[in-house]
Amino acid sequence: MNYKNIKYAEQNKVAIIQLHRPKFLNALCDELIEELSNALDYANSNNDIHVVILKGSEKAFAAGADISEMKNLTLLSHIKEDFIAKWEKISTFKKPIIASVAGYALGGGCEIAMMCDIIIAADNAKFGQPEINLGTIPAAGGTQRLVKAVGKSKAMELVLSGGIIDAKEALDFGLISKLVPLNDLDNQTALLANKIAKKSLPILMLAKEAVLKSFESSLKEGMVFERKLFQSTFALEDRKEGMEAFLNKRPPNFNNN
Ligand code: CAA
Repeated sequence: MNYKNIKYAEQNKVAIIQLHRPKFLNALCDELIEELSNALDYANSNNDIHVVILKGSEKAFAAGADISEMKNLTLLSHIKEDFIAKWEKISTFKKPIIASVAGYALGGGCEIAMMCDIIIAADNAKFGQPEINLGTIPAAGGTQRLVKAVGKSKAMELVLSGGIIDAKEALDFGLISKLVPLNDLDNQTALLANKIAKKSLPILMLAKEAVLKSFESSLKEGMVFERKLFQSTFALEDRKEGMEAFLNKRPPNFNNN
């Protein structure tokens, strides 16, 4: 695969996608999103891949949508083509995806990190939705997912002021799940990814689907959905294997069936 704006690698059952547009702090131009989308399709189609890591560089996870590409857009051009719609490939990806964030995760960068399932951040990470400073507002979930992650007051503060928070504050507010030293970020991300990758792929995907359902349903609807998915795991060999392995005091050998 020949990519210009990303790098793709696989290690065991983990795909590592690195945003790689260093001159522009990984600003999310159309071509980059297209390549990211292709890489996710590939990771999705390969049953040997159980988990994806999405990372940037030490300086920037991503500094947002590409402002130079956006500057000449009009309302009419947006109506004709919603360029952000292509970004939803990340939020609709069915396998677990971990954002490994160092440096700037601003605007669209913060938004694609929030589209991932888990965010691990280095101590130099900086998060924010600075779109207000450009005379616009977030467009890829910054006004929606951020509220669910950090609550209304902090989300309002960030969206209305365009302010930036550091990794410690992001941890305190529940935006990220883990804060690690920059030089340990790859290692800590890989440890978590490898732990997840050992599980059964269909069960991982069902578990992810169940958790995501909580964002768009009442508790009662979510519980019904969870129960149905739980019951459906009993159609899988891996469920049988998991329970037998436990009772026989041995590690499970999952086969994705
Ligand atoms: N789009 C296009 N180019 C960008 C960019 C972006 N979002 N962010 C940085 N760049 C470019 C800069 O223009 C600069 O290019 P040149 O060298 O050709 O001048 C290069 O990347 C390096 O950037 P800086 O010189 O600005 O680096 P810095 O270290 O001084 O500052 C920064 C870093 C604070 C992240 C600053 O670059 C910045 O504020 N970037 C913009 C952040 C932003 O506003 N993001 C929101 C974008 S809108 C959006 O994302 C909408 C949405 O919801 C989908």
